[in-house]
Amino acid sequence: MHFLDVKDLKKYYKSFEALKGISFYIQKGEIFGLLGTNGAGKTTTIKIIASIIPQSSGEVYIDNNIITKSPIRIKSLIGYVPQEISVIPNLSAYENLRLIGKFYGVSKEKVIQTLKDIDLFDRKDSLVQTFSGGMIRKLEISMALMHEPKLLLLDEPSVGLDPNAKLSIWNFIKSRKQDMATLITTHDMNEAERLCDRIAIMKKGEIIAQGTIEELQTIIGRKDATLEEIFITLTGQTTEEDTQDISSIRNRRNTIKRLS
Ligand SMILES: Nc1ncnc2c1ncn2[C@@H]1O[C@H](COP(=O)(O)OP(=O)(O)OP(=O)(O)O)[C@@H](O)[C@H]1O
Ligand SMILES: [Mg+2]
Repeated sequence: MHFLDVKDLKKYYKSFEALKGISFYIQKGEIFGLLGTNGAGKTTTIKIIASIIPQSSGEVYIDNNIITKSPIRIKSLIGYVPQEISVIPNLSAYENLRLIGKFYGVSKEKVIQTLKDIDLFDRKDSLVQTFSGGMIRKLEISMALMHEPKLLLLDEPSVGLDPNAKLSIWNFIKSRKQDMATLITTHDMNEAERLCDRIAIMKKGEIIAQGTIEELQTIIGRKDATLEEIFITLTGQTTEEDTQDISSIRNRRNTIKRLS
């Protein structure tokens, strides 16, 4: 058994099959990346693992527990940063952390230490709505880490951020990876290359290939291929010309708007 095991997961939204039976695993200390075209099912997968929406069939095992059977215990093992906003903009950084801290029984001292760790101690009393996108994302990730989860779920952690803010978020994620299993979704090939130990490429509800970058290179038969080239070869699409439906466009614009 791995720390996270996803087995033949299917999801229907009414008659639409958003996930067509996907399987993957993540070990402790590993960062696993879900890449895929818009609407491929990445957010759906993350939300099922986080027990926010139910699957139609298939199983998710976290630390040997089936998620549907022990949701409360399971939730305490998970830290989840959604694609959309998760901080409360008209509260300060301190208040946001303290609120989550109280929910999980985390001490005031830990809240203060967290603010220091993410270089926001000086701005702790500023309203979050005055923060930059990078500061907000770091705050959101640290909120998800407050209760020391064993599984961290990050849905597009650095979308809309400038290169420096991205680098800072990547370093932060990497610095925390050893004691957890981490799942990220991203459209950023550079992000996936820098962060992920293994990668799954999704298209229309299916995982069409997964493995290390070297394994993916072998799959397409080109040892020197970049991840971008692997992605285009396997999906038949560039990262810009994804199939776009109105909900995915709205999601993306909302995410970019709030982070810029
Ligand atoms: N609540 C819902 N009701 C109906 N269809 C939905 C719902 N949520 C998602 N879908 C559909 O399921 C498919 C997968 O959506 P999902 O958000 O998981 O994709 P994604 O890979 O995260 O896309 P993106 O890269 O744009 O974030 C899409 O076709 C989407 O329109
Ligand atoms: Mg998504």
